Amino acid sequence: MRAAAKQRAVAIARALGVLPAFEAVKFVAAAGAAARANRAYLAAHPDFVAPPLWWMHDMYTHASYERYMTSGAATAAAVAKRIEAHIEAKYPRVADWGCGLARVIRHLPENYQRTGFDYNARAIAWCRAHIKGARFETNGAAPPLPAEPGAFDALYALSVFTHLSASGHAAWIAEIERVLRPGGLFIGAFHAAPGAGQLLPGERARFDRGELVVRGGVKEGGRTFTAFQPESWIRVELLKNFDILEGPTPCFGQSLFVARRR
Ligand SMILES: C[S@@+](CC[C@H](N)C(=O)[O-])C[C@H]1O[C@@H](n2cnc3c(N)ncnc32)[C@H](O)[C@@H]1O
Repeated sequence: MRAAAKQRAVAIARALGVLPAFEAVKFVAAAGAAARANRAYLAAHPDFVAPPLWWMHDMYTHASYERYMTSGAATAAAVAKRIEAHIEAKYPRVADWGCGLARVIRHLPENYQRTGFDYNARAIAWCRAHIKGARFETNGAAPPLPAEPGAFDALYALSVFTHLSASGHAAWIAEIERVLRPGGLFIGAFHAAPGAGQLLPGERARFDRGELVVRGGVKEGGRTFTAFQPESWIRVELLKNFDILEGPTPCFGQSLFVARRR
């Protein structure tokens, strides 16, 4: 289906409240398509503990164990590169906010003091049971994080703001500022460069005017609750209390910004 037609179909499903049902059908199809490769992956990697497939698909829109591992390792390398470039600490205190099923944090260097946060208590329970070398904490849909002020040298949020409301953006960036030490690093991935057909015409007009575009109608924080952040809005509004060091840099389909807390 062409991108624009797909967006119109999704908008209708959202308005009718049937998006979750569509997602369930997509999940069954994705799990079926990945089943044979997943069996082979498990046979070849007997130590691998498979993450719950439903949550994997809910977070990543695919059901492939191999992709979960390879994309996680590549993303962790991209995050670590920024931390090494900007933070001088032998054992940096690093938070992954919205860590999901630990796709990224599990691959970070072992000298990092790692904490993963998510509001999905079942994902955090799975991480606690199966991922070594990191601490995992549940947080609420709204701040605060269970952490002291200045607790982290760096915090990254990959594909998390992309699922928040306008008030969610404001509340969570303030909370991130609180838990980062002065001079601490924020790394965020955003929808700052939506491709042709990814936005409906009215959304595109607002985006091009520099406005945050939010598609709700489903639970905030879920993958189908979607936000698009123009670069100018990120610079002037969201990260106004940070010094932007890098960005937007294309990063696995999103736009990465690296910023220092003042
Ligand atoms: C698209 S997934 C990305 C997961 C992970 N960051 C990654 O890149 O693999 C979005 C994640 O953000 C989490 N999330 C959404 N809103 C949140 C909130 N207010 N606090 C913590 N986690 C949240 C979801 O539960 C989900 O795990």
